[in-house]
Parts: sequence; structure tokens; C-alpha cells
Amino acid sequence: MVSPDRSQTATRLLRSSASHSYDPEVEIDWDAPLLPDAYFVPERRSSLYGTELWEGLSAEQRRTLTRHEVASIAGLGVWFETILMQLLLREYYKQDPTTPHAQYALTEVADECRHSVMFGRMIKKLECPVYRVGAFDDGLGKWLAATATGPRMYAAILIAEEILDSLQREAAADETVQPLVRMVSRIHVIEEARHVRYAREELARKVRAAGRKRLAYDRMVIARAAYLTGRRLIAPEVYRSVGIEPEVGVRAARANPHHRETMRWAAEKVVAYLRELDLIGGPGLALWRRSGLLSS
Ligand SMILES: [Fe+2]
Ligand SMILES: [Fe+2]
Repeated sequence: MVSPDRSQTATRLLRSSASHSYDPEVEIDWDAPLLPDAYFVPERRSSLYGTELWEGLSAEQRRTLTRHEVASIAGLGVWFETILMQLLLREYYKQDPTTPHAQYALTEVADECRHSVMFGRMIKKLECPVYRVGAFDDGLGKWLAATATGPRMYAAILIAEEILDSLQREAAADETVQPLVRMVSRIHVIEEARHVRYAREELARKVRAAGRKRLAYDRMVIARAAYLTGRRLIAPEVYRSVGIEPEVGVRAARANPHHRETMRWAAEKVVAYLRELDLIGGPGLALWRRSGLLSS
């Protein structure tokens, strides 16, 4: 697989950043009231949609659950972006600041800064708690932020970015979804398309440069990142918002064919790409299977 020249891609991405970047402070009407009857993720994407628990919820409770689900996704988004900004800054630090490739890394940090502010404001507006990963994953995140380089760095980034991209692309186009969520999704999708391009190409380069031993280790770390993303996208605590115990909600969601399909669908593109680069396999495969992101 031959990827285009690094600086050509970066130059193109810098140009696109100049013409298609959005300031959520200006673009979004944060004072507009939320619509009383709109969902916060498309109804059928709720993790409990179609289950017995879902049948037991009132229409308002169903909307409440989707409000907490989108807050959970945004919370995980902020967490990933904060790690990513650290990684990109470290990469930038090692590079020549006059090159487009280095400048694009810094431009991406600027995008992620705006995104995390936007997600934070949205969580606040939705009056939801900040759903955070557990202590173990938090430690893993700190370790990744401090040490990740090469294939594992870019693959972990891509998993999070591409799954969010699938979900947000759909939400942005769905008229049953709250206008605020649609707007946040639209801004994120447009800007993330550049990040995905940058990470995909960079990942392919890093894989070509890595040795067999390095790749075997990275496959394991990538699998753990996939597991975390699949398992934590919807925080177990969201079910409390509608009076369901977290363990009960999690069990129902994991057994829910609609939700399983949503997770597989959201991860489809990134899984295909990681497979193409031979990054899924080895001892990490069991974690991938438990992540719920694989279709076979
Ligand atoms: Fe982002
Ligand atoms: Fe991004």
C-alpha cells in the first residue's frame, strides 16, 4: 500500500482547515431551548432500543436515556481528545516547525481544543453528569498519553475517531434528533474527516516502518483500546437516569441485537482498515471479540 507524500497530504489538509473550520462559540446558539419531543441520538441507536426494558420506559424516559447516552459519548470524546492533543503535541515537538506535516499536527490540536470545549458545553446544556472511564482505563489513558507512538498511537486514535464519525454522521442528518446535537455532530464530522485522513496515512507509514516484534506488541495495545471504546462508549451509569441499575442496563444492552448491530456498524470502516494493515489478530483477538466491534 503506497500512501501519498506526507507533505502533500498535510498541505491539502491545512488548506481545508483554513476554509472549513468552525468556532462552536459562534456557530451554535447555546441559548436556544431544547426541543421537548426530540431524541438525542436516533431512537433506534439507543442501547436499550427494542428490549423489554425499553418497552417499560415512557416516551419521556426514552428521550432522557438518549440524552445521557449522547453525553456519555461526548464524555468519552473529550477524554480521547485530551489524550490525543498530548500525543500530537509531543509529535510536533520532535518535528521541524516549518514543515506542513508538523504544522498540520498543531492545527489538529487546535481543532480538538475547540471540540472538547464544544462537547463540554453540550454536556452542561444537556444537564448530564460528565461520564468518565473507570480507574483502570484512566490509568491506561495516562500511560498512552505519556508513551504512545507509532502504530498503536494512530490506531487507537482512529478507532475512537471513526466510530464517533459513523454515529455523528447519521445523527447530523436525522431530523428526529435535537438540533443542538445535530449541529455539534455536523461540526465534528466535517473537521474530523481531516483527522481521519491524517491518522490513516500516518498509521500505514508507521506500520511499514515497524518491525515484527513491535507490531505484535502494538496489536495487543490496539486491542485493549478497541475493548475500552466498545465497552465504555455507553457508560453503565447512564441507565440510572431512568431508574435502571447499571449492571441490569449493561446486561440488556450487550444482549440487545439492535445495539450489537449499531456497534458493529459504527466500527465497520475502521475494522476493515485495521485488518488491511494486519493490526487485528494474535492474543489481542479475544479482547477485540469482547469489544463488540467485530462482525466476524
Ligand atoms: Fe474531535
Ligand atoms: Fe480528531
